[in-house]
Formats: sequence, structure tokens, C-alpha cells
Amino acid sequence: MSATPDALRNLLGRRAATVAIATARAGDRVHGMTVTAYTEVSLDPPLVLVCADKSSHTHPVIAAGGVFAVNLLAADQAELSNRFASKQDEERRFEGIAWETEATGAPILPGTLGALDCRVVAAYEGGDHVIYVGRVEAVRVAEDREPLLYLRGSYGVFRSPG
Ligand SMILES: Cc1cc2nc3c(=O)[nH]c(=O)nc-3n(C[C@H](O)[C@H](O)[C@H](O)COP(=O)(O)O)c2cc1C
Repeated sequence: MSATPDALRNLLGRRAATVAIATARAGDRVHGMTVTAYTEVSLDPPLVLVCADKSSHTHPVIAAGGVFAVNLLAADQAELSNRFASKQDEERRFEGIAWETEATGAPILPGTLGALDCRVVAAYEGGDHVIYVGRVEAVRVAEDREPLLYLRGSYGVFRSPG
């Protein structure tokens, strides 16, 4: 089978992913979008990466401000995930959300599993995406929450087989 976008989507869509909202800030402009393409890179120094579609509006805000935060969503935050993925009311995504900041000024959202507040240290071409590697400057953790999962186009929660 050739590596068409449909073939990739078909296989990779069957891989359960955790969901985050990558937020960014450039001066007074804050923005953010739902992502599953993020991962840890290094523990020492602390590095994570996020892949931003070049056509997204979040990508130029990360490029301009040089910071992003990865807000890891909790099981009851599917609605927030949809809000930050939808192009409808895009400029109202943060409405009613009491976000805070840590070290970099990128928005830290409430009610999550936790957040990684990052300063961009490298950006790589990744086809139709840009891979932003960030050095983690602050971490927030809420010990008592379960992650939101995304599989085959639907949200779910983890249940152990036993
Ligand atoms: C579950 C899920 C995961 C997504 N993962 C990514 C991702 O990793 N990278 C990305 O660029 N877009 C991803 N998207 C799409 C963006 O969230 C969506 O295109 C959003 O509207 C972009 O907003 P913006 O153009 O305002 O930045 C994902 C969407 C969903 C629903």
C-alpha cells in the first residue's frame, strides 16, 4: 500500500492518543489549538515537542512569541478540545476561561491533568507541519485526574482490562 494521507490517517487514527491544547502568546495576542502531535523529547535538559500545521493560526503565534504551553486535557474536557479544534468562533476560544501564566506567559488552562510551559529552542521543517521543540521552564501537575483519549475520531477514557 502506498503512503497516502488516507492510509496514514487510517493506521495512525487507530493509535490511542492523549489530547492537549497547545497555547501560544506573542505580546498581547494569545491563541491555542487542540493537538495530539506532541511528545517528550528529553528529561535533562527538559524538552518536549509539538507539531503545528503550517496552515494553523497557532503556528505563526508560536513563531512570533517563541513560547508555547502544552495543557494536557483531563477526561472531562472533551468539550474544551472541540472548542480549540473548531474554526467557528476561533477568536472566542478563551472566553470564560480563567487562564493563568507560569514562566513564559503562554496561557495555562484550568481543570487539566497539568501543563508544560515552554520556550522554543528549535524549529524544524516537518512537511506540512513545523516541529517546535521547547525547553520546559515550568510544570503544573494535578495528581487526581485521568487523561482524555482520542481514538478513531472519538474521545474516550482509559480502562484497564482487568
Ligand atoms: C483530536 C485532535 C487532534 C489534533 N491534533 C493536531 C496537531 O497535533 N497539530 C495540529 O497542527 N493540528 C491538530 N489538530 C487540528 C487543530 O486543532 C485545528 O485545525 C484547529 O482549528 C487549529 O486552530 P488554529 O488554526 O486557530 O491554530 C487536531 C484536532 C483534533 C480534533
